[in-house]
Amino acid sequence: MKATARAHTNIALIKYWGKADAKLRLPLMSSLSMTLDKFYTDTSIEKSSENTEFYLNNQKQDTESTNRVINYVRRLQNEFGFSDKLIIKSTNHVPTAAGLASSSSAFAALAGAFNKFYDLNLSDRELSRLARIGSGSASRSIFGGFAVWQKGHDDLSSFAYSLDENPQMDLSLLAVELNCQKKKVSSTLGMKQAQTSPFFDTWINRNDYELEEMITAIKSNDFTKLGELAELNASEMHALNFTAQPGFTYFEPDTIKAIKLVQDLRQKGIECYYTIDAGPNIKILTQLRNIKDIEKIFESEFNNVKIIKASFGPGLSYLD
Ligand code: ADP
Ligand code: DP6
Repeated sequence: MKATARAHTNIALIKYWGKADAKLRLPLMSSLSMTLDKFYTDTSIEKSSENTEFYLNNQKQDTESTNRVINYVRRLQNEFGFSDKLIIKSTNHVPTAAGLASSSSAFAALAGAFNKFYDLNLSDRELSRLARIGSGSASRSIFGGFAVWQKGHDDLSSFAYSLDENPQMDLSLLAVELNCQKKKVSSTLGMKQAQTSPFFDTWINRNDYELEEMITAIKSNDFTKLGELAELNASEMHALNFTAQPGFTYFEPDTIKAIKLVQDLRQKGIECYYTIDAGPNIKILTQLRNIKDIEKIFESEFNNVKIIKASFGPGLSYLD
């Protein structure tokens, strides 16, 4: 028997960047995201006659990535009382480890495939909790549209819920792929390092306020407020990295150039905002009427840049 699940990536507008418990992946803050239609992961699980194996895009992975998946699946097996050897095959329709949220779709799809393979019939809340243990951001990819991951205080209370599965907001996200090489500092390591920043307490203290403001912006269909807050929140996250001890950054020269282009466009009356995750690539939040102008300017400023136009995507689904 084979079970396959599909999960879409999500991009946080209010970001998760800091843990209270690394093993359980309990966050120090709540976060809010938009699930995307254009980027996703398909993962299947079937029985193996020998060892548990993991293939990503038809290839065996390095020890770190392989162990992450195998240890995760073992942990789920222990929780539910299974011990069979499995073959896990995954395909990313998103660049892997480049700051485009591959781990969010990856572990949501894996939790889904596990649920299907063992016929567990888990609720979305339970699936979100399980996905979270694989990668925090994956908790939100169980849901489509806008999702909130409430930080909670322990394993059972930290899961995501849907804020709006099918938003009507005119909101597009342009993923500008500047560099899709595997990054040197994973999100897991980056957020650990960020916790040494002298501004980290301020980051945590602002979370309730920024989350509430973002929820209000979404509920009142206020794109300007959503964009301003998302850009501020992402800039705060990257300021933590710059001011960590020792400091680091995911930005590259092209990231700065792209930030300035977004600021210039805005001054010219083309409304757009940026958000950036743990990688050099920038995501532009805008509305349908502005997409062509933004694409034109980015294509003329960057050689061979790939721009993917995304909007709201669905939650977890099962393929077989
Ligand atoms: P990203 O910015 O892509 O989310 P992260 O550092 O958060 O980067 O996560 C990347 C890691 O997630 C990879 O190095 C790998 O260990 C894991 N990963 C990515 N895609 C998959 C997949 N389809 N199945 C299992 N693990 C995956
Ligand atoms: C910047 O969820 O990849 O994308 O829990 O250690 O796997 P781990 O981290 P991960 O971090 C995501 C960080 C982010 C912001 C976000 O998605 O909220």
